[in-house]
Amino acid sequence: MAQEKKDIDWGSLTFAYQPTDYSYVCNWKDGEWDEGGLTADHTVTLSECAGILHYCQECFEGLKAYTTDDGSIVCFRPDLNAKRMHDSAERLVMPPFPEDKFVDAVKQVVAANAAWVPPYGSGATLYVRPMMFATGEVIGVAPASAYQFRILVTPVGPYFKGGVKPITIRVSPYDRAAPHGTGNIKAGLNYAMSLFAGEEAHALGYAENLYLDSQSRTYVEETGGANVLFVDENGTLVVPQSATDSILPSITRRSLVQVAEGLGMTVEERPVMWAEVLEGRFTECGLCGTAAVISPVGKIVDGDDTVTFPAGETEIGPVMSKLRNTLTDMQAGTIPAPEGWVVTV
Ligand code: PLP
Ligand code: COI
Repeated sequence: MAQEKKDIDWGSLTFAYQPTDYSYVCNWKDGEWDEGGLTADHTVTLSECAGILHYCQECFEGLKAYTTDDGSIVCFRPDLNAKRMHDSAERLVMPPFPEDKFVDAVKQVVAANAAWVPPYGSGATLYVRPMMFATGEVIGVAPASAYQFRILVTPVGPYFKGGVKPITIRVSPYDRAAPHGTGNIKAGLNYAMSLFAGEEAHALGYAENLYLDSQSRTYVEETGGANVLFVDENGTLVVPQSATDSILPSITRRSLVQVAEGLGMTVEERPVMWAEVLEGRFTECGLCGTAAVISPVGKIVDGDDTVTFPAGETEIGPVMSKLRNTLTDMQAGTIPAPEGWVVTV
């Protein structure tokens, strides 16, 4: 039964946390996950010796729930978040959370918080944040023997202030992920690594950091919280690939590649040199991710150099705009999406 929506000014929401009615929690010990279920307790009590507090055994995910134009509640490709969290857990020597149980848990917690899913057309969404962390005690460096999987949900607005207004970012003087390290999984430790650079960028007036590959500082990798896309003068969508496996495999980016091909665009997935960007080869740039959707980039500053993207410097450019609208229309159910992308809760 449809629940009455909470009395919230949905259009004024920013990307900030507020507790909702329920979270989901499931614990692993003695080699198995318990049944799991909903909880109204939004706090976690841990031993002072829990593995998460010492050796940072933690990974997380991010996806969104939307109200479609017919009033139903849907999620976007939760199976891919389940798979990516499986990969993250394996890399961090944590017991993977079963993928079908993950999708079921997402559906349960979103359904239980239906009143918090922003209405169709409000511009806001329900952000779903699954996470997994070591609760077992460890003092020598080792994986823990107990874990918690948890999902919190919270209604959110745009990740970057101003929504689709182009942002200015800078090339980070710091690195995010080591070659063949953990950049390709969604480990909290990657974000700890980016906080100093992020705060410095904000203090200097930049919305985000663009990271180059840390081995050669030649290739474009991604930003602190989103993958990067470019459009060249022929209208080709150019998607940076990492030679050192240090870019997070964004679900939004993988979906947009298919959306672009479906729209008849040419897509090139290849290593992109920062020198190409500096030369002015690209007419548009955007950041893509669950939180970012597509956030257009108008300018990138690298020390004394500034690159502007002429077709998208002051307003979102035509290609980014087309991709963004197509994706968000699929998510809102106003145009058909490929089979399995939009999952009803
Ligand atoms: N890259 C980083 C570092 C991220 O934190 C995110 C956010 O999840 C993304 C890319 C985008 O990934 P997705 O589209 O799966 O949300
Ligand atoms: C997401 O887009 O879901 C993320 O996890 C990115 C984070 C920086 C908010």
